Amino acid sequence: MRLSRRQLAAALAGGTLPMAGLPASGLAQTAGRSLSPTQGLGAIARAHGITFGTAVQQALLAEDPRYAAAVAAEAALLVPEWEAKWEALQPEEGRFDTAPLDGILLWARERRLPVRGHALIWHRAMPGWLVAALGEGAPRARRLIGAHFDRVLAHASGQIRDWDVVNEVIANPPGSDVPDPGSGPLRDSPWLRALGPSYIETALRMARERDPTLRLTLNEYGIEEATPDADEKRRRLVGVLRGLLDRGVPLDAVGIQAHLQMVRPFRPEPFAAFLAELRAMGLGILITELDIREAPDAPAELQRRDALVAGRAADFLRCAVEGGARTVLSWGLSDRHSWLATDPDVALGRGRTHRGLPLDAEWQRKPVWSAMARTFSEA
Ligand code: G3I
Repeated sequence: MRLSRRQLAAALAGGTLPMAGLPASGLAQTAGRSLSPTQGLGAIARAHGITFGTAVQQALLAEDPRYAAAVAAEAALLVPEWEAKWEALQPEEGRFDTAPLDGILLWARERRLPVRGHALIWHRAMPGWLVAALGEGAPRARRLIGAHFDRVLAHASGQIRDWDVVNEVIANPPGSDVPDPGSGPLRDSPWLRALGPSYIETALRMARERDPTLRLTLNEYGIEEATPDADEKRRRLVGVLRGLLDRGVPLDAVGIQAHLQMVRPFRPEPFAAFLAELRAMGLGILITELDIREAPDAPAELQRRDALVAGRAADFLRCAVEGGARTVLSWGLSDRHSWLATDPDVALGRGRTHRGLPLDAEWQRKPVWSAMARTFSEA
């Protein structure tokens, strides 16, 4: 049974949906003003000029009512977690499968929610045929990009208004979790090997040619924290951005993924300076994939763990919003379905699950939810 947003809100207020997460009479106290428990993060953010959204999986939207209820209650913008990537959309050359993406687009349209696109050109989620084809040289590579963009941008035209056109293009400096070899600014990838550094410009120009109304975003990670490697990665990124803009390459915004890690310090100063540089270049700023990865030595006690995560979210988001971010997306809403829980490379281990998203595995709002609500309401 589909609940209308009004029915859902009433259900949440009455606590009949487990994800409300607040005591029946509970009102989230933020900034000294009480909020109705029916107000989700999207509504709170919108009241202060910010768009809050989250990554969604089509299969879960279709099959898990609690997942769908949480998205409907909390999000004002969606991004497909996987369904708009190359391996989902064009699993074989010339065979497009838009069904998973269409499931998200329809769900969003029924609720009048916007959707952003992620990600047209990325070194992961590439089907095998594409990697092989890119090895056949630059003309073939350009034709493949053109054909993919022709189909995908036309298909989602009018509903997806902004895309991560290129994703994770900067090489990871020494000291990163997974440093890249070499000292060049760009990550080695099948795209770079096929077209050289111009692949970024090629992708951005082809996207703009196909739909001049799109907001074109370059999306990156590892550029948030106060570490030498993040400093270097920010420096590399700014250099690449300046080169693109100096050549008149169309680019509207930078997506900052914000997969924050408690083992890495965060200080507002270097991040604020970086955001100021982006704004000075005339670039918009989006926080595109926010979640918080706990430290392996996180305290045992849940309340202390949650307080640490909430503190990091608040420190980061306050700096991001003060620095000009007006679109913030988390990478999922509940710890239950976070990649932090399912990807063995980042799992917390010892039977524990990262508590880095606004809702816990039982859809209950956590202190990080309140920290986000408070930050939005103070914007
Ligand atoms: O491959 C199956 C496919 O056959 C099936 O139809 C589909 C049905 O849902 O599932 C597919 O499985 C997995 C997919 O997630 C959907 O859950 C893929 O095997 C798996 O590789 C994919 O992982 C995603 C990963 O990106 C790679 O695309 C994660 O969910 C997603 O959280 C992660 O997100 C990335 C961002 O795009 C970029 N920034 C980092 C972030 C975390 O790695």
